[in-house]
Amino acid sequence: MVPWPRRPRLVAGNWKMNKTAPEAAALARELVAAPAPAGVRLLICPPFPALTVVRPILDGHDVLLGAQNLHAEPSGAFTGEVSGPMLTAVGCHVVIVGHSERRHGMGEDDATVARKLRAALHEGLTPIVCVGETLAQREAGQTEAVLRRQVGAAFAGLDLDAARATVIAYEPVWAIGTGRVATPEQARDAHRVIRATLDEIASAGLGAQLAILYGGSVTAGNAPRLFAEAEIDGALVGGAALDAAGFLSIARAAAVGTRAR
Ligand code: PGA
Repeated sequence: MVPWPRRPRLVAGNWKMNKTAPEAAALARELVAAPAPAGVRLLICPPFPALTVVRPILDGHDVLLGAQNLHAEPSGAFTGEVSGPMLTAVGCHVVIVGHSERRHGMGEDDATVARKLRAALHEGLTPIVCVGETLAQREAGQTEAVLRRQVGAAFAGLDLDAARATVIAYEPVWAIGTGRVATPEQARDAHRVIRATLDEIASAGLGAQLAILYGGSVTAGNAPRLFAEAEIDGALVGGAALDAAGFLSIARAAAVGTRAR
């Protein structure tokens, strides 16, 4: 398993349930037609039906293809689900796991997220495992406990090579799709809790090695401030990833101040 480095930063577009296959192809063509931002890795995660049409558009370009979810089993009687082998077969390299819209909207618990994380790694997909507190949890002073629980459940018992091949996205639920972005300090503090948890449950020093993205209302406007914070190793972008120019300016901002602490 190949470790995922903290630099260059990763700027990932989570298109969610947006874009039909032809619309997705058009957006992908716009992205690759623009000059590639240097010093940053780009990833797009279109909806499942668009993966096969987007794949060839990315050929010869430095844009990775990812999916938004996978089932923990490789095949079987799971109507409506998509497995890891199906994703690698269409050219995906990455998969988002445990997004809050799945944890809170589709009933995915920590155990399910942990199984999906292992299924992704088993297929050679890089998982981006999402963690983050709700507004009620933050206001109740539970942010740290929630992050520790979610990271602990996802990484407990994972071997070190697999852990190093995993990316984490800190996505406070109150910041997703709300226009209310976390401050760079809030993101930094959460990332430090995540790194400390990894050190405790897996191995001392692991926390400093893992790439942790920030997600939640990232825009071209707030990206420079976020990326001034060295703790932030990239971004998981929802709404602002649906516009090629906006997504690319976030990517350019990510390339600035690229040294990890
Ligand atoms: P947003 O979504 O950028 O629209 O807030 C981020 C995400 O859910 O990954």
